[in-house]
Amino acid sequence: MDEKLKQIEQTLEKYGQEQLLDEYNRLTDEKQKQDFLDSILTIDFNQVKTLYEKSKEEPAFANSKIEPIDYVDKSKLSNEEYEELKEIGTKEIKEGKLAVVTMAGGQGTRLGHSGPKGTFDLGLDTHKSIFEILTDILIKAREDYGVDIPWYIMTSEENNQQTEQFFKKHNYFGYPKGCITFFKQGKLPMISTDGKVLVDENHKIKEAADGHGGIFHSMLKDGVVYDMKARGIEWVFIGGVDNVLVKPVDPILLGMAVKKQVVAAGKSIVKANPQERVGVFCKRNGRPSVIEYTEITPEMAEETDENGELKYGESHILCNLFSLKAIEKVSQMELPYHIAFKKAKYIDQDGNLVVPEKPNAYKFEAFLFDAFESLENFAVLRVKREEEFAPVKNAEGVDSPETARKLYQDFHKQK
Ligand code: UTP
Repeated sequence: MDEKLKQIEQTLEKYGQEQLLDEYNRLTDEKQKQDFLDSILTIDFNQVKTLYEKSKEEPAFANSKIEPIDYVDKSKLSNEEYEELKEIGTKEIKEGKLAVVTMAGGQGTRLGHSGPKGTFDLGLDTHKSIFEILTDILIKAREDYGVDIPWYIMTSEENNQQTEQFFKKHNYFGYPKGCITFFKQGKLPMISTDGKVLVDENHKIKEAADGHGGIFHSMLKDGVVYDMKARGIEWVFIGGVDNVLVKPVDPILLGMAVKKQVVAAGKSIVKANPQERVGVFCKRNGRPSVIEYTEITPEMAEETDENGELKYGESHILCNLFSLKAIEKVSQMELPYHIAFKKAKYIDQDGNLVVPEKPNAYKFEAFLFDAFESLENFAVLRVKREEEFAPVKNAEGVDSPETARKLYQDFHKQK
């Protein structure tokens, strides 16, 4: 018997994943069979086993000590303070020390757009896609500071090709091609509720992106950290693809990080109301962190300080700045994986395609903000929602193209 097949059989037996052999035996095309075996070899079944076991555990957050975190309110800085931070940050930007990373590896399931989220037409008169809007922001910054700002776009296995083609087709929306680098985030197998690795409709192992926390590993693995070093980058802004008012090149944020001598900083906006379903910055066991809306008690969510402001009111908006040193450190660490229960099409034991109507499979995701706890320090800058946060998440209602378009138009005073 083929050595490779024998080895795989042993591994699958050891981890109780023999159902994958049924799929192998059903395949008739020799190339497809070999590809399938090769894809099995890329899987860390021990990790899959651990992840499955963790899916049965209760979350551990109940025992952590949560406290409010200090922040700087951008709108309350005095003129002198503002100018000082601006000068410090501007100097760093002009010296070419800042790079921007856009995380565009998500599935965008809530929006329901068929392509990568960045290719979505926001519905402006110009019919600009989200990617073009983001490029405009970087072109403006390039003009303002007279420096090429390297832009790294993180895609996933599923959307990488479409994303790169979209930029190529549109001639990179006028941004210098040499300043744009695409890199792919990692992936992990999806498993059934009884811990079995699934097979997708293309007769491959069913895999999904490993969450935005996968960014640090991917930046190291794909040579992004190395490339940044070679370009003399010291600071990296990391943001999501879906905020059309993002301000990635912000001398105040950068100036604040440098002045406070922190290794990372994040922007917050005031929580709209205590019940808003957003994560907020906090200190967890004395370390910088984000507490999710699912973790916070209703009492804590309502608590106010002596000024009547929410104690836990600084929403995390996925707009963070890291020193390259902090990224290097975190990229070598294991972030925890969180479990999401999702709908996943798969091929069953009899070789039939199953299209579920409700969630049927576990997906594992690392969260970027889990990295904060390993950083020695962190600064939070409160910014204004109407100036910096217009997310495109849902097809309708809150945080939809309609609300983001309005915020974008109001900010740019466009009709
Ligand atoms: P979200 O958590 O809002 O997920 O991602 P999403 O994929 O865009 O949308 P839903 O939840 O499926 O509807 C926030 C940001 O993180 C990126 C997304 O592209 C978005 O910019 N992200 C998310 C990744 O890059 N990779 C991931 O694995 C997950």
